[in-house]
Amino acid sequence: MRERPVVEGVEWVGAVDWDRRLFDELIPLPDGTSYNAYLVRGSEKTVLMDSVDPSFAGVLLERLASAGVKRLDYVVCHHAEQDHSGAIPRVLERYPEATVLATEKCKVMLGDLLGVPADKVRAVADRERIDLGGLTIEGIHFPWVHWPETMLTWLPERRTLFSCDLFGSHLATSEMFAGNDPLVLPGAKRYYAEIMMPFRNFIQKNMERVTSLEPAFIAPSHGPVHDHPALILDAYHEWLSAPPKNLVVVPYVSMHDSTRRMVEHFMESCAWRGVRAEQFNLGDPDVGKLAMLLVDAASLVIGTPTVLAGPHPKVAYAASLANLIRPKVRFLSVIGSYSWGGKAVEQLAAMIPNLKVEVIPPVLCKGVPKAEDLAALDRLAETLAKKHGTIM
Ligand code: FEO
Repeated sequence: MRERPVVEGVEWVGAVDWDRRLFDELIPLPDGTSYNAYLVRGSEKTVLMDSVDPSFAGVLLERLASAGVKRLDYVVCHHAEQDHSGAIPRVLERYPEATVLATEKCKVMLGDLLGVPADKVRAVADRERIDLGGLTIEGIHFPWVHWPETMLTWLPERRTLFSCDLFGSHLATSEMFAGNDPLVLPGAKRYYAEIMMPFRNFIQKNMERVTSLEPAFIAPSHGPVHDHPALILDAYHEWLSAPPKNLVVVPYVSMHDSTRRMVEHFMESCAWRGVRAEQFNLGDPDVGKLAMLLVDAASLVIGTPTVLAGPHPKVAYAASLANLIRPKVRFLSVIGSYSWGGKAVEQLAAMIPNLKVEVIPPVLCKGVPKAEDLAALDRLAETLAKKHGTIM
């Protein structure tokens, strides 16, 4: 377990978690993840940027030993979530002379979550600079990426931004750098959709604080280091700020095939009208794919059968997820089949108060869809095609 160079004076000492498949018992990780920690060595002071998930504390300590680190002056804690802060107590046991640097809010959270004593943590002010000898670190408070206590660190002499979860991706890889290959973007988009999108308005307002630095390297807490930062910065600009695309996303469940037939007819009808439509069967456990589709979608059309007078529980889960991640979606409708009645639409509407959408009248039918139901789906597709035309 050795350190790996990033730029002069900066080494990676983190851990790659190839086998993890779920984060927070919620977020699927089809490609594993990494917990990035970086060592920054000035001529006078040595800093560890973040730690790792506690299950990998031994790996971090081995890499620090391999790097010949006898003394740590500071441990920067950008974010108190345990996948980055969880090994800090072990680091402090090994390097008791170290002082943790964090925002005031993070200082309190480190005490609450991990029992880190307050006298081991020094709160840093926004834009406060600390001299390491030939290198300088500057704390940039950036709350809500994605907790209230988060900050980033700027290393001006290397034009390197340690960006915490921002610009990260859940990706296990032996590659240190993302390069200029757009193939790295799907992982970053998935991460954005699941973790950052709920805070997109806040991030959008503060992106200038990052772009004005003109970083040469962006070193996030998960996934590869961005050595061509324009790739990820342009992608974030699009995800955060561009109008939604001419895309309808249709998450659905079907119990007796009627809702599926409605979804298929609706998809064809959208395509025929020049509207891109993506269906997502909620039997697929990887809801991250649905979250990614919602980054760009102008419309969400939920397909649900009725179960005990309400939406199918898998649909209710998808609605709650959409409500949590707050996509830019502008239009919403519901399609589906019922057997004897119910309140699926009313219950679904109550589950998505965070979505500021125009609700288009639902298309519900009893049992198998008849000709008039298919015609109603055509009208829904026509309405959405016209609505999309107003926002493109
Ligand atoms: Fe990667 Fe919010 O922790």
